[in-house]
Amino acid sequence: MNVTVNVNGKPYTRDVEPRTLLVHFLREELGLTGTHVGCDTSQCGACTVHLGGNAVKSCTVLAVQCDGMDVKTIEGMGTPAELHPLQTGFWEEHGLQCGFCTPGMIMASAELLKHNPHPTEEEIRYHLEGNYCRCTGYHNIVKAVQHAAKLMKGDGTGQAADD
Ligand code: FES
Ligand code: FES
Repeated sequence: MNVTVNVNGKPYTRDVEPRTLLVHFLREELGLTGTHVGCDTSQCGACTVHLGGNAVKSCTVLAVQCDGMDVKTIEGMGTPAELHPLQTGFWEEHGLQCGFCTPGMIMASAELLKHNPHPTEEEIRYHLEGNYCRCTGYHNIVKAVQHAAKLMKGDGTGQAADD
C-alpha cells in the first residue's frame, strides 16, 4: 500500500507491505539508519522517534499508521556544525560509549524537555526508564540531559525545545 510520511520536514511516499514497521520504513526504505533496532519487542527504546510530536518506539508502530503524519528522527535533530543542545550535552558530559542507545535517548529526552524544561534527576531517570543503555550506567546520560536543559534555558546555544 502507498504511504506518505513527512520525515524531518520532507514528504516521502513509498509502496510498503501493510506489516512494515515504522522503524524498518525509516531504515530500509528511507536509509535513515540513525534510528536503531535493539530488541524489536518494545523494551529497549533504541528505536525512539517523534510521531506527531510525541516520542514513540518505532518498532511498535506500523508505517501505514503514520500516513500523512510528521515523524522526526535523530537525523532531524542537529547537524555536525550545529548540534542540538541534547547532542551537545551527550558530547560534553560523556553520555555515550558505543552510542547504540544514544539516538533513542536523545529523542526520548527531547520529549521530556519539551514538557518539563527543568526536570529533576529523578524525573529524568523516570522518563528514560524505557530506554536501555548497556554501556554508561546512566549517570552521564542524566548529566547530559541536565546540561541540555541549561542550554535550552538560554545560557548556551539558545536553541528552543524540540517540536
Ligand atoms: S527496538 Fe524498539 S524498543 Fe527496542
Ligand atoms: S552507549 Fe552503548 S548502549 Fe548506551
